[in-house]
Amino acid sequence: MDELIGALRAALPAEAVLTDPDVTASYAHDMASFCEAGRPAVVVLPRTVEHVQHIMRTATAHRVPVVPQGARTGLSGAANASDDCIVLSLVKMDRILEIDPVERIAVVEPGVVNAVLSRAVAEQGLYYPPDPSSWEQCTIGGNIGTASGGLCCVKYGVTAEYVLGLDVVLADGRLLTTGRRTAKGVAGYDLTRLFVGSEGSLGVVVKAVLALKPAPPQQLVLAAEFPSTAAACEAVREIMGRGHAPSLLELMDRTSLQAVNAMAHMGLPESTAALLLAAFDTPDPAPDLAAVAELCTAAGATEVVPADSPAESELLLQARRLTLPALEALKAATMIDDVCVPRSRLAAMLDGTAAIAEKYGLTIGVCAHVGDGNTHPVVCFDPADEDEARRARESFDEIMALGLSLGGTITGEHGVGVLKREWLARELGPVAMEVQRGIKAVLDPLGILNPGKVL
Ligand code: LAC
Ligand code: ZN
Repeated sequence: MDELIGALRAALPAEAVLTDPDVTASYAHDMASFCEAGRPAVVVLPRTVEHVQHIMRTATAHRVPVVPQGARTGLSGAANASDDCIVLSLVKMDRILEIDPVERIAVVEPGVVNAVLSRAVAEQGLYYPPDPSSWEQCTIGGNIGTASGGLCCVKYGVTAEYVLGLDVVLADGRLLTTGRRTAKGVAGYDLTRLFVGSEGSLGVVVKAVLALKPAPPQQLVLAAEFPSTAAACEAVREIMGRGHAPSLLELMDRTSLQAVNAMAHMGLPESTAALLLAAFDTPDPAPDLAAVAELCTAAGATEVVPADSPAESELLLQARRLTLPALEALKAATMIDDVCVPRSRLAAMLDGTAAIAEKYGLTIGVCAHVGDGNTHPVVCFDPADEDEARRARESFDEIMALGLSLGGTITGEHGVGVLKREWLARELGPVAMEVQRGIKAVLDPLGILNPGKVL
């Protein structure tokens, strides 16, 4: 171990190598704190690409596992440490290198916080859409690692659609450049996409070229109360089926509404079974909002309230973004599912989830990016209660099984990490698993990059 630390220190500044066990322990896991996590041997905080290359060369020479990390806001344990690993935190590489309005790109280091980039490009009339709920903390590198989504994806798509090119330090320290900074480009296999969502298991992203859009007008949100989640899902079917293009289409169930009120006293309606939030960011959103209000009423909405200002709209979004922290406050631990199903199967997914909660006698709050069919059943439990912890895991798994049976995926945006690792083969099948393992072997022949994650 001393040899490893000595070799790391040889080309890194003293403050970039942390070995105090109390300090390194605080880097042991992401937000999936109930997932297994080992004890890191050392935490390194590089500031340059050369630092990262030195770290990877050293790790290869010593055959030591490396766990890349951003802000550790991930929800699947993908950033959790393994025993005696090097935790490679990219948070100090946090410069925005370029914002170019003509090319409509930003070039950034991986540690840039999502909201910092969003605000910086907004100053130039531009828009970086991907907006995970943790956008005030999460980093672009982490967003790329987990292929994050967010609230705006129903109109603007997910992180993968905005990553044009990457610089990646490979397991052996070589620097790979992928992709492009042009509007188009199809030279060779799409290695950029391969790294997006690879959860630090194929290489370490040290620079990203990101696509930007012109900033749209501020969105206006409409809130509709429904007597059942199924009725709200019927409204979603109609809204999407009739060609509307909402900039956001989200659902909060009663448990979520109550939890957010308890945490932030926001005055959300607590008697309603499901609150649907729909927004439009067009120059004149009034006709779309009116049409959507009508569709909601026809689907059974008991109350339809358009926000009368962008500020009120922002408050509703804040309530939605608070859902996970609010549900987390209900019990000692939560396990968050991330099943994405075809929109037309959403009602079956949410009714089935309620039946699973009932069967296992657990609180499972649900928020969902319903416009994408992406649901977040949040299983609340006490890990100290052995029986409850077992029921939590079984219900969590049954929700994934339900998602697969409805033609969905086990993860729409949070990734596989440790949490869903056992389930990947069930979704992908043996041939896809073989190809995925082959790719891993080419890029990481020694298996030192984030071992025990994804595959
Ligand atoms: C959200 C996170 C949990 O949608 O993905 O709030
Ligand atoms: Zn989400």
